[in-house]
Amino acid sequence: MTRCFVAGWMAAAAAWAAGGSSTVTFNKDVLPILQTNCQSCHRPGEIGPMSFLTYESTRPWAKSIQVAVLTKKMPPWFADPRYGHFANDRRLSDADVKTLSAWVEAGAPEGAPQDKPAPVEWHDGWNIKPDVVFSMQKPYQVPAKGTIAYTYFVVPSGFTKDTWVLDAEVRPGNRMVVHHASVQVRPPGSQWMKDARPGEPYVPPKRADGSDALPAPVDPNVNTSNEWLVGYVPGANNYFDPDRQAAKLIPAGSDLVFEMHYTTNGKPAEDQTKVGFVLAQQPPKFRLLTVPVAGADFVIPPGDANHAGHTVATFDQPVTLLYSQPHMHLRGKDMEIRLDYPTGESETLVSVPHYDFSWQIIYVQDKPLRVPKGTRIELFNHWDNSLNNKYNPDPQATVRWGDQSWDEMLFAWVGVVVPRDTDPAKVISQPKVNEQAAR
Ligand code: HEC
Repeated sequence: MTRCFVAGWMAAAAAWAAGGSSTVTFNKDVLPILQTNCQSCHRPGEIGPMSFLTYESTRPWAKSIQVAVLTKKMPPWFADPRYGHFANDRRLSDADVKTLSAWVEAGAPEGAPQDKPAPVEWHDGWNIKPDVVFSMQKPYQVPAKGTIAYTYFVVPSGFTKDTWVLDAEVRPGNRMVVHHASVQVRPPGSQWMKDARPGEPYVPPKRADGSDALPAPVDPNVNTSNEWLVGYVPGANNYFDPDRQAAKLIPAGSDLVFEMHYTTNGKPAEDQTKVGFVLAQQPPKFRLLTVPVAGADFVIPPGDANHAGHTVATFDQPVTLLYSQPHMHLRGKDMEIRLDYPTGESETLVSVPHYDFSWQIIYVQDKPLRVPKGTRIELFNHWDNSLNNKYNPDPQATVRWGDQSWDEMLFAWVGVVVPRDTDPAKVISQPKVNEQAAR
């Protein structure tokens, strides 16, 4: 007995001394998980508030890491696992959660240096190799304090031919003050922001009834071929076809419109955001389109903790659906996006039971979905306009559709692929938001 006990103890001690297999260590077990799942955000210059590149910078966070992964707060991912399969699913496997947790329980040991995997070579700057880059023409001065309404910058593309974009990226000039940015296409003849002067910051005037102007492409006055191209939101992703069979179109003579949401941070700052494009050498076979589904037919009473919304649109032609992106503002609570096929069958594309405005996630289908003509797409949601919602800017307010984050939206972008020459105005039909709001 005694001998066995001692032998067992000695083996364990030897394994421990060698940083052997019995103990979960940072170098051997934890770092590979952090490299794959966390460092994209948790490294200097990215949005994660602390770096997980080294043992020294990770060790003080061991306990919070355990809590964050056990409670599924991290990595950020909001889809209900009961619905859909997503190519960009960020959730950790149960095995990885166990490993991280066991490491913390073991006292967060570093382990042997030879167990350390090679560091991932993260690069700063462009993630794509852009063929062409457009920049806001002048830097914009962001004041130290206050709330800034969404500000738009029109940048002429100078494209004399129809131009197909295979990939795109927005590079914020100053991440401290750029909350989000998106770049949209304004084709020739569009009335959208017709008063904006190229290069000058532009804030759309209020409507006659005092409400905010609506963003493209859901503004009823906008030429429907206005299209959203690419965005920047911390932690969120864009989608372009990895096989490069489908591309987005910038018609000849279009302008690019930068939509900038700035936040102040106590010091005056300057920003000059850029967008880069990878261009197709020949017209592609397919067009990638981002189609909006919008419901404006709501009035949220003051204090209502669970106000329900619903809207529906219909596909007027067959499409291949690639992704969907639920969107509400600060009072958004939950959303489900559902397809109702002409056969009578229904399918939930994505359900987000605890929506968080800080994370505008695109949910990319694991397998592209064939959606027949006549299929309806429905959005079901709730808003929390009560005091309990810590993000609520004003629980006393009656809230309607609007562009600014203190207004609300019931909205989704849906990414679809269609034959190249499809008229984008004929893909999906739904009453315009102004008609809806008047109901
Ligand atoms: C998409 C970006 C992103 C990824 C991926 C990500 N994080 Fe985070 N993480 C953040 C941001 C932003 C914050 C700070 C804001 C917040 O807490 O939501 C944060 C906060 C944290 C915190 C502090 C939590 C708290 O309650 O204060 C921990 C711990 C953490 N992350 C661990 C992880 C781990 C472990 C992983 C990988 C398994 C991971 N994160 C992946 C962006 C990310």
